[in-house]
This record gives sequence, structure tokens and C-alpha cells, in this order.
Amino acid sequence: MTLQDKTYIVTGASSGIGQAACIKLASEGASIVLVGRHEETLKQTLASMAQQAGQTHHILCCDLAQPETIQSAIQQMTETVQRPIDGMVYCAGIGGALKLRDTKLDVLHARMTINFYSFLECIRQLVSNKQKNREMRIIGISSLASTTSLQYFSSYAATKAAVEATVRTLSAELLKKSVYICSIRPACVATPMVEGMDPFTEVGFDQRLRETGRQPMGLLSTEHTSDFIHYLLSSPTALYMTGTNLPLPAGTPC
Ligand SMILES: NC(=O)c1ccc[n+]([C@@H]2O[C@H](COP(=O)([O-])OP(=O)(O)OC[C@H]3O[C@@H](n4cnc5c(N)ncnc54)[C@H](OP(=O)(O)O)[C@@H]3O)[C@@H](O)[C@H]2O)c1
Repeated sequence: MTLQDKTYIVTGASSGIGQAACIKLASEGASIVLVGRHEETLKQTLASMAQQAGQTHHILCCDLAQPETIQSAIQQMTETVQRPIDGMVYCAGIGGALKLRDTKLDVLHARMTINFYSFLECIRQLVSNKQKNREMRIIGISSLASTTSLQYFSSYAATKAAVEATVRTLSAELLKKSVYICSIRPACVATPMVEGMDPFTEVGFDQRLRETGRQPMGLLSTEHTSDFIHYLLSSPTALYMTGTNLPLPAGTPC
């Protein structure tokens, strides 16, 4: 299913799930607005992306830890891109294990802001700038962690539970505006975020996930998440999934 003539915003475009999504969506013909904090790393993603005739990719530097800047960033982007935006894949996020003693208010606030407040603010701004009657699809990246009881993941799980609650409750309001919203809830995916987590740095994490039954099919790859994202953006049937939070559990009971 081609995405020719479509334009999507992808946040978290510099790394992991977001980077892989940019590469996949561009290979299917879409034009992408790559969002991240650092131009240099976004350019590295851009260098790996297909760019055929009719495709134009843009870079938008934006710190999603500052949601008050999103309105002007999206206005600036709309002026630069000069074509309707067909959707957003919000992959920016921070996470990792955090003990209670380290869950200080500023840390909690930063997690909540990047993972949730800015997700909602991006939606608000995109929907208010949207052309009437034109379909828009929005995908958030939640996590299975929102409903598992993984030790030290309370703050991360709370940010993802907020994303999922918003997807569920906002969908009816958005449907009236032809906006369709879902989230993906992956188990562990092989990205720098996972590599950076303390308990996971030992060699053989994939094997440990399989052997302990925590994730019997092992680490997901970013190709798995990109395929899912592509399906949700391109399939006519996927529209009927609006308001849902879709697991990608790799065998994890959920
Ligand atoms: N990896 C997993 O196992 C897994 C599983 C389930 C869900 N997820 C979720 O999937 C999403 C992507 O994770 P990932 O594994 O791909 O992580 P990653 O490789 O660490 O990438 C995180 C991305 O978020 C961006 N980001 C972080 N802080 C930002 C800020 N203040 N402003 C703008 N962008 C910011 C980073 O961009 P810059 O730092 O370049 O600005 C980077 O592109 C996250 O929401 C994560 O919670 C991951």
C-alpha cells in the first residue's frame, strides 16, 4: 500500500523506532517532516531515506521538553512544507528504569512532558491547522509497560498509560473531524533506549528475554514497528481501529 503524495510528521526521527519509521515511510513514497532536537542527527536519518520525484523531506528542530514552543514550530513547519499534513507518528520519548528515590518531581515532569503533554499538544496544534474533511491519522508509541508490573518502571508506565487513556477518550471527538488515532504498545525493541537501560546492558539480553519467558519471541526489531506503523497509516481497514491501543507483544502475555 503506497503512501505516495502523503506527508507525515515523525517525532523522534533521529533514533530507534522513529528513525526506522522515517526510512520505511519514505520507501513507500511518503514525504516526511523529521522532528528532533539536533539537526546533525536528523540529517543522518535523512541520508538513509528514499527521495524520489514528488517526495520532499524537511527537518524541524524542536525540543519537545518545551510544549509551549510547539504551536510556533508547527506553524513554521506548515509554512515551509506547503502541503497538507496527513498525519503524525509520535515516537519521541524518554524512559528507563527509575527507583522511587530518584523519581523526583523534575525527572517525573520531564518524562511526562516529552512522553505525554507534548504528544497531546502536537495533536491539538495539528488538528487546529488541519484542512476540513481531509483525513488525518495519528499514531502514538505507547508500551506494554503501561500494563505490566515491571519493577522500577512506575513513572515510565504512568506516562504511557496517559497516552493510552488519551487515545481511547479523544478518538470520538477526533472522528468528527476525520482524524483517526491509535497507539502501538510494543514489548522491548532493539533501540538505543533499551541498550541504555542498566539492567539490560549485559550480553544476551535477547536470549534472557526468551529464556525467562518475559518476551518469548525475543527482542523486536525496528522493522517490526515500522511495518506496523506503515499498516496503520496506509490500510483502509486500520481506520476502523481508531481509539485503540494495539499490542505488539512478541509472545509476552498481555
Ligand atoms: N525501545 C523499546 O523497547 C520501546 C518499547 C516500547 C515503547 N517504546 C517507545 O518508543 C518510543 C521511541 O523509543 P526508541 O526506543 O526509539 O528510543 P530512542 O532510540 O532513545 O529514541 C528516542 C527519540 O526521542 C527523541 N527525543 C527525546 N527527547 C526529546 C526531546 N526533548 N525533544 C524532541 N525529541 C526528543 C530523541 O531525539 P533527540 O535526542 O535526537 O532529540 C530520539 O529520536 C518512545 O516513546 C519509547 O518509550 C520503546
